[in-house]
Amino acid sequence: MKKTPRRHWRPIALFALMVFILMGFREKLQVTTVELKKENAVRLLLLSDLHATEYGENQVELIKEIESLTPDAIMIAGDLFDERRDTAPAFALVEGIVPLAPVYYVCGNHDLQFHHYHSLFSQLEERGVVVLHGKTEVLNVRDRVISVSGLIDPLSISHRELFGYRTHLENLMDLPEADTHVLLAHRPEYISLYREFPFDVVLAGHTHGGQARLPFSRRGLIAPGQGLFPSLSGGVYPYEELTLVISRGLSRFRTMPRIYNPPELVLVLL
Ligand SMILES: [Fe+2]
Repeated sequence: MKKTPRRHWRPIALFALMVFILMGFREKLQVTTVELKKENAVRLLLLSDLHATEYGENQVELIKEIESLTPDAIMIAGDLFDERRDTAPAFALVEGIVPLAPVYYVCGNHDLQFHHYHSLFSQLEERGVVVLHGKTEVLNVRDRVISVSGLIDPLSISHRELFGYRTHLENLMDLPEADTHVLLAHRPEYISLYREFPFDVVLAGHTHGGQARLPFSRRGLIAPGQGLFPSLSGGVYPYEELTLVISRGLSRFRTMPRIYNPPELVLVLL
C-alpha cells in the first residue's frame, strides 16, 4: 500500500523532537553579558551557586573562562560550598581566580549548613578573598569609583527574621562617595527590601534559574523562597531605583538536571 507523505515525516519529526529534548539537558557553561553601561564600563564578573561543582581538574575550565573575560572584580553571590560535597573544588576555584582580580564573597544558605562555616570564611580570607558580610569596599578602577557592599545570608540570623535582615542593611548605610553603589546578596526574593536602600545594582543568585526553563523563556519552574513559577529566576530585572541581576548559577547535580537552563557566568558591564 502506498504510504501517505504525512507518514514519511513521522520519523523525521520524532528525531527532531528527540534532539530538541536532549538539547534541553545540555549543561555546557554559558557566559551572559549584561550591559548596563556602554562606555568606560567596569567589568564585574558575577559567579554564584557553584555548590562545589567541578569544572575540570582543579577547576581549570572555569578559571580559564573567567580569565578570558578579563574582569575588574569577581563577585561570588553565595553557595560556593555544599554540605553534601567536598570543599576542595570550591577552594581550587578561589585559588585560581584570586590572582586575576579582587574577589568578593557573600555566603548562601548552603554555605551556612557547615557547622564550622566561620572556619570556611577564614579559609577564604587566608586565600585572599574579601568576605563582604556587613562591609562595604571601594573599587577604584577605569577612573570610576564603585562601592560594593555585602549581606550575610538571613539563615544566619536567629529565627530567620526579616527584621534582622533589615538591620543588617541599615548597618551598611554609611555608604562612601561613589558613582555606583552595588549590593551583593545571595537571595533575590527580598528585592522589595533592597529597594528601600540607595543601591544602584543588586547582584544575586540562589534561584538556579528555576532549575527547568521553557526554551526561549525568562521563566523558571521552581526556586527556593519563591515556589513554583518564580517571578525572579535569572536574568536582568530593571526597577525604578535599581537593577537586579540574578545569575542562574554554576551547580551541576546528576540527581537534579538543569533543563534548558545551562550553568552560567554573568559579566556585568557597569
Ligand atoms: Fe544554591
